[in-house]
Amino acid sequence: MARISQNKIDEINQAADIVDVVSEFVSLQPAGKSMKGLCPFHSEKTPSFFVDKEKQIFNCFGCHKKGGAIKFIQEYKHLNFVEALKFLADKYNIDLEYTNIQKNESFEKLYKINKTAKDFYNLNLLNLDSGKIALDYLEKRNLDKHSLNEFDIGYAPGKNNQLMKHLLENYQEYELVEAGLINKSNDGDYYDVFRDRIMFPIHDEYGKVLGFSGRILNGDNKAKYVNSKTTKIFNKGEVLYNLNKALPHINQKNRIVLMEGFFDVIQASLAGIEESVCTMGTELTYEQARKIKKYTDQVIICYDGDKAGKEATYKALSTLEKLNLEVQIALLPDNLDPDEYIKEHSQALFRNHINQNLIDKYDFVYEMIIEKGLKTSSEIEKAKNSLFKFLAASASKTITTIYLQKFSEQINMDIEVINQDYNKFLFNQRKFTQIDKTKRTIVKPKSTVTKNIIKAEEKIISYYLKSEDYREIIDDELFNFRFTKGFRYQIFATLRELSKTTSEVALYNLKTNLSENIHEELEKIILRENYNYSEQELRDLIDTLILETLRQDIVAMREELCSLIAENNLDGFRAKDVELRNKRKTYEEIRRRRNDKKRDI
Ligand code: UTP
Ligand code: MN
Repeated sequence: MARISQNKIDEINQAADIVDVVSEFVSLQPAGKSMKGLCPFHSEKTPSFFVDKEKQIFNCFGCHKKGGAIKFIQEYKHLNFVEALKFLADKYNIDLEYTNIQKNESFEKLYKINKTAKDFYNLNLLNLDSGKIALDYLEKRNLDKHSLNEFDIGYAPGKNNQLMKHLLENYQEYELVEAGLINKSNDGDYYDVFRDRIMFPIHDEYGKVLGFSGRILNGDNKAKYVNSKTTKIFNKGEVLYNLNKALPHINQKNRIVLMEGFFDVIQASLAGIEESVCTMGTELTYEQARKIKKYTDQVIICYDGDKAGKEATYKALSTLEKLNLEVQIALLPDNLDPDEYIKEHSQALFRNHINQNLIDKYDFVYEMIIEKGLKTSSEIEKAKNSLFKFLAASASKTITTIYLQKFSEQINMDIEVINQDYNKFLFNQRKFTQIDKTKRTIVKPKSTVTKNIIKAEEKIISYYLKSEDYREIIDDELFNFRFTKGFRYQIFATLRELSKTTSEVALYNLKTNLSENIHEELEKIILRENYNYSEQELRDLIDTLILETLRQDIVAMREELCSLIAENNLDGFRAKDVELRNKRKTYEEIRRRRNDKKRDI
């Protein structure tokens, strides 16, 4: 490949948000203005790895690695600079290859066609007689010419395929089909896809027109909205309507307001909530949530106030939570959508609703769950299970306690009873049936596993004897682990002691400090192999030992959990459960770093 231009590097840096890049490999939690997690570059139990969205850098206070997104990929994937660029370019669909210039050209053509179509629709609405009915309709919906112009709204004439005729002056039919603006009928004639509709252009965040959505003027039995088909540049599940205009306001207010419809977004913006965007009648996708996360961490969901709107809110909430976004809910009364609310009440009341009347996400879900009824026993049981499921998935111990308390009061039940049910629920959820299998593994570990571990332990001892550099790595990185045999531990511990007092950590020196019955074992370890020492192998050995210790701990803790449940020791259970989850997280983190595929617990 030819050299990568600075422009391309800038483009990659622009696209590759550090939080986004790192989150793929490290699970991050918010920590003040930054995010933190367990450092993927050294073993640790408490997070000292920070990612700063504002500065676009990562920084580990433990191992002092730091840098931007490209550097992260270099380190994490062991790639050189160019390889890391390729990796990121691929992830963010940025073309590095010369041949892709052709692809860019075909994109550019579609952008141009869309822009021409948009101008044509605008002209029809605002300046030509044909748009008069549409203009009247929009006026009834409180949109004057100025606002229509601001939001680039247009009108697609109903007859004579006028758009096609206009575009064919400069483009070919197949290109217009590719853009999704015309179609071929059964008898072979081409026709305009959008006819007699109010046209909403859909822009990307940089302002390019990707596609359109067209609304009917009156309620005959056609689809209310028709959207552009998926094209090379348009995918309904990836765009957020109005994001381009909302961006400066999202930055300024550090929040985004998510709605359901075009009219909602436009009226909300005119009311001063300019940071509004909407999806296009589909559930919020993970892609869209990721796009939001690029610009802000705070989301207000303001969907329609009806039942469907609430259900959709719940789904969007779950998707946004997966990306650690902070979510609040604006719930409009009387089944109104934002557009209707503004019309029925006022812009000021709407602003007030968004700025001062938000519902906490936990309260929202709680209300949704109990709203379904708590009269019959079955209803109670159903609500209880939904609540448990929700709490177990995302809530801290504090939040869990608050809502279990609330629920117990609501159904007039002793909190201890609810607690017991909840613990039973957690217990069942964890599928403890597997425990017996695991038990067997620990009593009689597979011999290959044990062999590997013993070998790793022996090698660590050899490395420790080998050089000062290796000693340093082991001292820094290898902690919280156990040896499988006492004598190997004795050798290692003695070595460690020795290295503190003398730089002469040699075999003879070691022997004089070890009891004679261990000498034989020691010689076996030292003499058996002529190792090919490398730092990479050493780091791998360290991980192996830490993983094995973690694995044993996890298995043992599971058994403890079972006993705690049997004893009905609820507090003990919960505390142990949190501990187990943390261990498990560290364990998975290390495994992921090593690309371990096989699940062994
Ligand atoms: P709604 O049915 O809630 O319509 O659809 P609305 O936004 O209130 O529209 P108005 O106020 O009656 O004009 C919400 C969104 O779902 C998409 C559109 O993006 C719409 O804005 N939608 C709806 C479609 O894509 N197709 C449809 O047939 C209907
Ligand atoms: Mn509406």
